[in-house]
Amino acid sequence: MHDNSREILSKVLITGANGVVGSYIDFGIKLDHRSLDITDLNEVLSVVSKHSPKFIVHLAAETDVERCERDPQHAYIVNSIGTYNIALAAKSVGAKMIYISTSAVFDGLDGPYTENDACNPQSYYAKSKFLGELIVQGVLDDYVIGRACWMFGGGSKLDKKFISAIIQKMREPEIKVVKKRFGSPTYAKDLAGAIKKMILNNDKGIFHISNGGNPSRVDITKEIVKITGSATKITEVEPSFFSHVYSDQKENNEGMLSKVKIMRSWQDALKDYIKEEWSDYIMKR
Ligand SMILES: NC(=O)c1ccc[n+]([C@@H]2O[C@H](COP(=O)([O-])OP(=O)(O)OC[C@H]3O[C@@H](n4cnc5c(N)ncnc54)[C@H](OP(=O)(O)O)[C@@H]3O)[C@@H](O)[C@H]2O)c1
Repeated sequence: MHDNSREILSKVLITGANGVVGSYIDFGIKLDHRSLDITDLNEVLSVVSKHSPKFIVHLAAETDVERCERDPQHAYIVNSIGTYNIALAAKSVGAKMIYISTSAVFDGLDGPYTENDACNPQSYYAKSKFLGELIVQGVLDDYVIGRACWMFGGGSKLDKKFISAIIQKMREPEIKVVKKRFGSPTYAKDLAGAIKKMILNNDKGIFHISNGGNPSRVDITKEIVKITGSATKITEVEPSFFSHVYSDQKENNEGMLSKVKIMRSWQDALKDYIKEEWSDYIMKR
């Protein structure tokens, strides 16, 4: 930590600060959708110039993958053009940009992936986020692209992803969980801490930022059962059982390997998350 870390962190502007990751950011100028719409270039330029930040942490995004599939234009407007607007504004005030991207820029056919592996996004969400990465690299010299994967965090109020759905089924007699899906869970609280460290270290370039490990959805479910003490029965089902964006039968691994070891294991992070934010679901202590 620097002596002047408080001063550095006071000059960080955060977009999309009301979301899951933003809810754990405890520094800087936090702007939500209402105070800054990233799709409006004039507004972006004027708000950024008013605050004149040294860093912009760009979290705002359309993260509803199914909405992006239904409305690709909306996905590109928010995730690509919105990112372009933020990159232009960062350039105009000489700020460094920290863009949070996704492991979905990879196709999942031969993961886990390092930062040097080739991208091949499949969904419109992933394509629009990948275009955001290309834009950041094209517009700016000083940036961090931090890719996260299988985000969890925000508790019952904000978490709409796989892990919260599974936790909420712990009192049911049986849970059906998809087979053949591997990833690297990322606790949003740990990601927020990693973002802070990267700002203070003045890191540059592309980084994979997830909790350590490459579990399957079934491994994660078993760990949640262990942490909560649930008596539910886990039934493994083929991907086609659920009508999701990807319903093919092949194994898919969008897990990530990172050149930096800045986060704890996914099991430790998950235990902390459930104890801190889902304690009502812990059945024995
Ligand atoms: N969630 C994941 O699994 C995951 C995985 C890997 C990477 N990421 C990336 O991590 C970053 C943070 O994700 P998160 O989980 O915190 O997402 P989140 O909870 O969905 O938060 C995103 C925020 O962006 C805001 N937003 C949407 N459109 C906007 C616009 N036009 N202008 C300004 N703000 C807008 C939303 O506000 P409203 O709700 O008010 O519209 C929301 O508060 C995103 O860039 C995401 O792509 C997420």
